[in-house]
Amino acid sequence: MLRGRIIGTGSTTPKRILTNKDLEAIVDTTDEWITRRTGIKERRISSKTRAEDTSEMATAASKRALEMAGVAPEALDLIVIGTVTPDRQFPSAACMVQKNLGARCAVAFDVSAGCSGFLYALSIANNAIATNNCRNALVVGAERLSGIADWQDRSTCVLLGDGAGAVVLTPGDGNEGILSTHLGSDGSLWELLYASDRIGGPIELPEILDTVEGRPFCLKMEGNKLFKKAVCCLADVAVAAMEHDGLSCDDIMLMVPHQANLRIIRATAERLSIPMEKVYTNLDKYGNTSSASIPIALDEANRKGMLKEGGYVLLVTFGAGLTWGASIVKWSL
Ligand code: COA
Repeated sequence: MLRGRIIGTGSTTPKRILTNKDLEAIVDTTDEWITRRTGIKERRISSKTRAEDTSEMATAASKRALEMAGVAPEALDLIVIGTVTPDRQFPSAACMVQKNLGARCAVAFDVSAGCSGFLYALSIANNAIATNNCRNALVVGAERLSGIADWQDRSTCVLLGDGAGAVVLTPGDGNEGILSTHLGSDGSLWELLYASDRIGGPIELPEILDTVEGRPFCLKMEGNKLFKKAVCCLADVAVAAMEHDGLSCDDIMLMVPHQANLRIIRATAERLSIPMEKVYTNLDKYGNTSSASIPIALDEANRKGMLKEGGYVLLVTFGAGLTWGASIVKWSL
């Protein structure tokens, strides 16, 4: 049986760091509150004067992943990007990346699945490989959430950050690579997290944020209800994935969860009986980067040498839609 094998990872985040202390000057909040309730200490914010738009970050992350994979852009036949913040309504961020890379043989499109975008994209690319419709696929998660943050809403703007991560997939021999992907959605709960029209028109930014380029809509969230739903969905879909592949929690080498809130990650790990030493977190540095969070974390863990050949990696996510998903990867890089 064919399955996708990850042969390269890459990521990038904007240069500009916005700390919790910086946020104290923007909204009525404290470093202590943000750290205690979320685990976030700082986040990266893209600049309109640097090449840090969603497609530009996606391109930079992709170049690193392709370099590690040793795959030329012309050899790609599929580019799928999970994003809710493409540069434009259309064309897709994936088509912009195709152009930037010179990947002229690829089919390119975006997937909108909130913070689950990367795992949805991974599932599509893996299915294309499994059905022999694709040889080399580029799967990306890229977001510029700073442009859709409501910088007057302390309950949401403190959570968000920008960045991109990418992986290159190629067919594996059957025993290694992406063992399975499991996705779920519940549109009846869309109002817990959505993009709303900005009341009062374009964003008015304090001086400290003058490099942020705002959009005509902004993120609205019912954090408390979402929190409880997230923990249940993450744990349930992770269990479904492990059961499907005949694995127990003890078999997992590393869990790489979506980086929304450290308390959500801890509660999920506890439900799964996976010790925090086996859970990768970096949200203290980047906050919640939506679709980008898993591939950024995966790339960091990979480059730190934390992923050993033959070990099982559990990817698990939850986001707007509502959407959720999990995947088990038998690491082979
Ligand atoms: N600084 C200081 N106080 C803040 C604050 C901030 N940045 N944001 C909210 N508060 C206040 C609230 O106004 C509220 O005050 P009140 O009790 O006087 O009304 C109090 O803190 C508690 O708010 P609450 O929303 O109950 O806090 P919480 O413990 O649920 O934490 C979140 C809020 C958003 C951090 C948390 O709910 C969360 O992470 N939810 C899930 C988010 C998520 O996963 N989103 C994306 C899915 S991919």
